[in-house]
Amino acid sequence: MMRPMKLAGEYLLFGNGALEYLKTIKGEKAFIIISGGSIERSGYLKIIQDYLSEAGIQSSVFKGVEPDPSIHTVLKGAEEMKRYNPDWIIGLGGGSAMDAAKAMWIFYEHPHLKTLQDISSPNIIPALRGKAKMICIPTTSGSASEVSRSIVITDPEKNIKVGIGNMEMMPDIALLEPGITSSMPEHITADTGIDALTHALEAYVSNRSNDLSDTLSEKAALEIFKYLPLACSNGENILYREKMQNFSMIAGIAFTNVSLGIVHSMAHTVGGKYGVAHGLADGIILPYVIEYNMQNAEAKKKYDKLAKMLGGESFAKMVRSLNEQLNIPSNLKEVINKDEDFEKNLEELATMAKNDGCTKTNPIIPDIKGFQELFRKAYYGK
Ligand SMILES: [Fe+2]
Repeated sequence: MMRPMKLAGEYLLFGNGALEYLKTIKGEKAFIIISGGSIERSGYLKIIQDYLSEAGIQSSVFKGVEPDPSIHTVLKGAEEMKRYNPDWIIGLGGGSAMDAAKAMWIFYEHPHLKTLQDISSPNIIPALRGKAKMICIPTTSGSASEVSRSIVITDPEKNIKVGIGNMEMMPDIALLEPGITSSMPEHITADTGIDALTHALEAYVSNRSNDLSDTLSEKAALEIFKYLPLACSNGENILYREKMQNFSMIAGIAFTNVSLGIVHSMAHTVGGKYGVAHGLADGIILPYVIEYNMQNAEAKKKYDKLAKMLGGESFAKMVRSLNEQLNIPSNLKEVINKDEDFEKNLEELATMAKNDGCTKTNPIIPDIKGFQELFRKAYYGK
């Protein structure tokens, strides 16, 4: 079946010196969205603002995007944006800062939109770029929001994470500067990196996968397998950082075109309900879903191929031992530990995962009972 593919926005720059591109852009005002102080402490925020100044662009910084950004933060940022009136929006940080920046952009461009419901399915994101264009600069290697059309925004009142995808949200410019990721602590390198691996693997076995996405996702999976443990144990090694940054982005290009699978559906669900960090949830759930997907002949063939290329036999087992190396727990109970509550919510969790937008591209689509079983396995580690 013919499907269009979009491989990043206008410009995708990666490698040492990528940030210098900022010196060449045309405009007047940039609104920079960041999470916390680490990007200031590392000196990169100043470098970025200096480059913008060289281009004759003044900038303002919105600080304080939390992990799993809430709709409240998004609306607050959008209000500030309306007052500042930028022609460039820069999402600078991990997936949270970039996703929040993209969401703020929608509300800034279209002031009649007021709520999370207004921008989520079945409502459609209207055209962007009437007022500003978007630059993303990732400081972690995992979310790939810099080359993706999707965002995840949390509704804290309802304890849900809402995934929204639309090609309008593909950033115009993505700048991947390897050094900017080198201050990431080990556990964040692990959690975000296993998210990147999950993107590669879910895109690889997606029921929409094609020759182009397979080429990207297969290579990304193999390289992340190799470089993620190295980047965790040798965080100061810039080559390992660069490989993780590039292959996270490559996995992103694959998944933004052919979508993901039920690891993400389940991770979004436990993330919203129990606050489990996204990458960590992915890593824990991933081997259980690989085992489940092995029932599909196409998916099995692909997992077996990866295992062989990596010199092993069972791919699920290999992912388990990778998790062990990365100190990622083998079950959800270790991070949630609310047995009674979990049992009580099981049907609701299964229903939410079933309805998640990532479910429809999994190689096998479980019913509610199937999701309950999968959640139980991942929770108790059986
Ligand atoms: Fe993800």
